[in-house]
Amino acid sequence: MNATTPLDLSSYWMPFTHNRYFKQRPKLVASGRGSYLTLTDGRRVFDCLSGLWCTPMGHCAPQIVQAIQEQVAGLDYTPGFQLSHPGAFELATRIAELAPAPLNRVFFANSGSEAVDTALKIAIGYHRLRGEASRTRLIGRERGYHGVGLGGTSVGGISPNRKMFAPLMISNVDHLPHTHNLAHMQFTRGQPAWGAHLADELERIVALHDASTIAAVIVEPMQGSAGVIVPPKGYLQRLREICDRHGILLIFDEVITGFGRVGANFGSQRLGVTPDLICFAKAVTNGVVPFGGVIAKQSVYDTFMTGPAHAIELFHGYTYSGHPLACAAGNATLKLMQETGAIKRAAMLEPVLEHAMHSLREEPHVNDIRNFGLAAALELKPRDGQPGMRAMEMFERGLDAGILLRFTGDTLAVAPPFISTEDEIELMVARIRELLRELK
Ligand SMILES: Cc1ncc(COP(=O)(O)O)c(C=O)c1O
Repeated sequence: MNATTPLDLSSYWMPFTHNRYFKQRPKLVASGRGSYLTLTDGRRVFDCLSGLWCTPMGHCAPQIVQAIQEQVAGLDYTPGFQLSHPGAFELATRIAELAPAPLNRVFFANSGSEAVDTALKIAIGYHRLRGEASRTRLIGRERGYHGVGLGGTSVGGISPNRKMFAPLMISNVDHLPHTHNLAHMQFTRGQPAWGAHLADELERIVALHDASTIAAVIVEPMQGSAGVIVPPKGYLQRLREICDRHGILLIFDEVITGFGRVGANFGSQRLGVTPDLICFAKAVTNGVVPFGGVIAKQSVYDTFMTGPAHAIELFHGYTYSGHPLACAAGNATLKLMQETGAIKRAAMLEPVLEHAMHSLREEPHVNDIRNFGLAAALELKPRDGQPGMRAMEMFERGLDAGILLRFTGDTLAVAPPFISTEDEIELMVARIRELLRELK
């Protein structure tokens, strides 16, 4: 392809995209630097969601670029089964140090979806090894997003993601109700006071199926993809208590909340609840190389470490588990976060984002604003007969106004890079305000 040959858009089947609409109005990114992306038509936009929640340290951070360049020139790939390389162990150690104790054993995958399916398998295997093979039921939550693997789709609770594949869904799955209720929590700053009692639904599910059939509960500490649904105060504590009471593993899917997004290493620490397994991905490599994994409590790991020492303990893994480039990116990202105090910076910016976003409350079309950590959502009133169109127009017009917004349905989510300045956050919100005022 050169300047005189038009780009053929027909072959690429794009993910989670309206392919036919996109190909009539293509939007292609040429380059990224810091908190900004530049489109091929020259428009430069502030990256309001840090990519897809995954580039908190900004694009093309020189330290990460250099680490990958050095790695690829020295060791580009090694099998990860019965063999490894130093960078994988270094990264697992770094992640274990950031994780809440006693979670300190780290399994590597290549994405959030793989991390989730890995965690579900670990949960099932754990009970089986302990002589409780009847514990096979998995409990997710309405509106939860746990990626697109068959396990993650089954425990997920976003119906368009599930309905086409209904025959493939794992049958032994139940869902907790979601916690979003505008009548009780509209325009709440931070955690809503209402809703802890919704965790008690888990007791109802236990009573229905019996605890001896339930392996694990999986929830995002803060639901990200569904539009920043913040856990009510005390809700996760109650889930933890009920899981403990019935011997059920609690899995936090921290693919979005991990590595600083909520102003602490993990949502677990910010919210004061320790799960048995944590899924992570996204920010761990600053989105530069696909990566993800699961952090397990030592007791979960130890349960697998029985039998003869020469036998494989977990028949699970990926060709690219612990890929040298991903590990180089992960080590460089976590080192950079530590050296620059990035997670403290995210915490420091939280009130700036909160104040700016909630100042939009009286603007036209605004139905709700919510925020937690360095993340916020703006829910729009749907246009009559055209749900989702207002948010889509905000996205399209935002590109001309210098901001890249992300929308699902009528909700816009923002989660700016940790390297953003206060002025950039204010400017982002000022531009959203202008767009809201122009919107029909
Ligand atoms: C909470 C959560 N889990 C899992 C995933 C899936 O991650 P991936 O797209 O890397 O497979 C996502 C992606 O947004 C997510 O937000």
